[in-house]
Amino acid sequence: MCGIVGYVGSRRAQPILLKGLKRLEYRGYDSAGIAMFTDSGLMVTKCAGKISCLEQLLTGDPADSTHGIAHTRWATHGEPTELNAHPHADEKGEIALVHNGIIENYRTLKEFLLQKGYHIRTETDTEMLVHLIRFNYKGCLTEAVRNALAQVDGTYGIAVMSSMHPGVVVAARMGSPLVIGLGDGEHLVASDVSAMLEHTNKVVYLEDGEIATVTADDYRITTIQNVQITPQIEEVTWTLDQIEKGGYDHFMLKEIHEQPTTLRNAIRGRLNFEEGIPRLNGLNLQYDQLRKIQKVIFTACGTSWHAGLIGKYMIEELARVAVDVEYASEFRYRSPILGKNDIFFAISQSGETTDTLAAMREAKQRGVTVLGIVNVVGSTMARETDGGVYIHAGPEIGVASTKAFTSQVMVLSLIAGLLGRMRQLSPQAGQELIEAMQKIPDQVEKILKSSDQVKKIAEQYYRANNFLYLGRGINYPVALEGALKLKEISYIHAEGYPAAEMKHGPIALIDENMPVVVIALKDPVYDKVMSNIAEVKARNGNVIAIATEGDTEIAERVNHVIYIPETNRFLTPLLSIIPLQLMAYHIAVMRECHVDQPRNLAKSVTVE
Ligand code: M6R
Repeated sequence: MCGIVGYVGSRRAQPILLKGLKRLEYRGYDSAGIAMFTDSGLMVTKCAGKISCLEQLLTGDPADSTHGIAHTRWATHGEPTELNAHPHADEKGEIALVHNGIIENYRTLKEFLLQKGYHIRTETDTEMLVHLIRFNYKGCLTEAVRNALAQVDGTYGIAVMSSMHPGVVVAARMGSPLVIGLGDGEHLVASDVSAMLEHTNKVVYLEDGEIATVTADDYRITTIQNVQITPQIEEVTWTLDQIEKGGYDHFMLKEIHEQPTTLRNAIRGRLNFEEGIPRLNGLNLQYDQLRKIQKVIFTACGTSWHAGLIGKYMIEELARVAVDVEYASEFRYRSPILGKNDIFFAISQSGETTDTLAAMREAKQRGVTVLGIVNVVGSTMARETDGGVYIHAGPEIGVASTKAFTSQVMVLSLIAGLLGRMRQLSPQAGQELIEAMQKIPDQVEKILKSSDQVKKIAEQYYRANNFLYLGRGINYPVALEGALKLKEISYIHAEGYPAAEMKHGPIALIDENMPVVVIALKDPVYDKVMSNIAEVKARNGNVIAIATEGDTEIAERVNHVIYIPETNRFLTPLLSIIPLQLMAYHIAVMRECHVDQPRNLAKSVTVE
């Protein structure tokens, strides 16, 4: 959740750290801090609030230093105050540390440290770690970190520096990602590669239980048991313009508009028109293995979970294979029943979400094949799965997931098509699906042109306190996703419901103040949805319908219609979600909310 950057080299560290920190701000943004090595010792500057506040504090103080660590925080233990912000320093101010994760046994450690005479100043778990390092310090910083971590339960990605060791950053990882960037006469350490892309695309991902000792010219990786590791250098393909706003007001808007491209990337090289069979070699499964699958299990959180739910509708109907969709946080504590021919998929944009990772590891331990549908190349999930499919959406910076969602759904449709063709789908039906997939990016492009129309509708409703989203069948998860988008960035209470469920409770909420967004496409449940619309209208509700182009009849029955082009019914979520993303965006802007960094949220949820 938090973002860590460390630099050691020959250039001025402060601007490099601040810029890196800004690239990571999407990971957490409630407080920030920086520690620099200077001639007079460690200089630590911290503040509550965003990195811009930290910058203001630092302007009058251009520390000429080539070595430092910095942090942007998403609070877990202790409020987001200046005192609780990282870096935390030991009592002598000689060791400073930034931390991402949770020290679970911090209470025990606190008692231990108090007994040893240490003074605890903050409400954080992290502070224990810096005192523990001090306690274990006998001349070697790496050894002190190693011995301290041996006493720690929990998760961490840390970067540590000391005025006693100029030009050294020690980093360690257990559960929270850390990557080392390899430059020319300089090295960086960060929570993810976006903080270092300006300087290098050569990286080494730290694995759990590894400690890196990094200097300007060298880096050495050992395990916590002090076994030397041979690092594997990887090349990052993401480019700088992918992590910049490129003229858009917000990352979210940029990412919404990138969807025609990202969807093309999701299907590139994967459509086999002749046989009507999607090509997904990364699954590492032979056709006969695909035929033997008894059950598919999708686990994910948030938006990725909604994508999984759409996958269930696709796979069960196209391939006649049973699909369970589990919240990752529930899966691991539920003792789920898994068979040897079941296939487990973790769906995650970041590939780092702790709940999903834990569920995945649980499934792995139980011996089932574990696959990933992941965006971030080199992420923990990508590395720990037996195979999978990258969604190729590129960096997603806006906290509200948009392009990753549609790419996940596209990849799920490829999987559904593949499983379908292995089982019961005719070559012709497979070909039709694939042909429809290929048209989707252009269709999304067309829908994006209705942004101004969506904005006008948003103008009428942005002051509402509640919204209801209704959909049926495969568009029910789209209703859930539309509601999630609205609530997370505009702070309007919004609920997604299967349209027919409305009459079992939520209908009590409907009056003239309740905008109801209904996905009412020309599909097998169209007439049923129209009845649900009538029920809303009979109670003075305002209906905004997402409808199929050419359906003129619906315009007479609702307050507003936003049309989307016709496609294969299994692919409709890829189109119906676009106006809902735009609506959430416009409403949030009108309410003057912080679209890319909504309150209380963080992009990558790496705590339980
Ligand atoms: O990186 P992941 O896909 O694993 O993240 C899962 C959720 O945290 C994420 O989808 C979250 O719900 C987003 N804020 C939704 O916009």
